[in-house]
Amino acid sequence: MSESFTTPVEGIMPRHIAIIMDGNGRWAEAQGQPRVIGHRAGVKSVREVVRLCREQNVEALTLFAFSSENWSRPAREVQLLMRLFMTVLRREIKLLKKSNVRLRIIGDISGFDDKLQQRIRDAEQTTAECDGLLLNVAANYGGRWDIANAAQKMCQLVQQGELDINDVNEQTMQRFICMADQPEVDLLIRTGGEQRISNFLMWQCAYAELFFSEALWPDFADAEFTEAVDCFARRQRRFGLIGAQVTNPN
Ligand code: IPE
Ligand code: IPE
Ligand code: MG
Repeated sequence: MSESFTTPVEGIMPRHIAIIMDGNGRWAEAQGQPRVIGHRAGVKSVREVVRLCREQNVEALTLFAFSSENWSRPAREVQLLMRLFMTVLRREIKLLKKSNVRLRIIGDISGFDDKLQQRIRDAEQTTAECDGLLLNVAANYGGRWDIANAAQKMCQLVQQGELDINDVNEQTMQRFICMADQPEVDLLIRTGGEQRISNFLMWQCAYAELFFSEALWPDFADAEFTEAVDCFARRQRRFGLIGAQVTNPN
């Protein structure tokens, strides 16, 4: 554990943290730099949160890297983001493996060119045996896509006669949603000051605690992470119950 890290209040750590890494463009623009400089600078924050989550024994970390809506950005920015994605996957994968981090890409990877799809598969394969932190990177991901995709898979089973229509419910749907095999998202952090979900994990965040940070993503580091998990530890999660039931379950 790094010395600068303060132990969270009551030691309650989220098992699964998801982050909307927002603010790269504004970070760069504030310095009169092209937006891509902000995206590059954001990679350092990714390394930092991966390290912090490992140190704190968080089970899963899910990072929003590229949304299904981000394709509509200026073509040059999209192109540079794809290039950065390729480079980072190549450069970081050995370190992830050494750190026992298992990488998974969630999202519709069929939307990427063949080379990038191959690199994604290779990267996932390289860390497939790692059993430490689960790092999910959401790329060409949209919460609505995720739900529609799950519905389609479920319909296929019904069509094949393997699932009765009366068994179509939350539990069966859940099996086809991204990260079904992982703990529910406990804490959703969004950096960059905006307070919205932007089509991120719509299903998985049904009961997540939300934390909005003013920090732009390249500035997000140890202190900001600590603030978020400390805030999480102070929340009372009621899941529909009343406070007294939570504090005194019997
Ligand atoms: C988030 O930062 C990264 C991606 C969406 C790829 P932005 O690029 O959205 O940065 P701002 O919000 O314009 O500052
Ligand atoms: C959300 O950020 C997507 C990612 C962080 C990858 P955006 O910057 O795209 O979200 P909006 O457009 O401000 O809602
Ligand atoms: Mg943004």
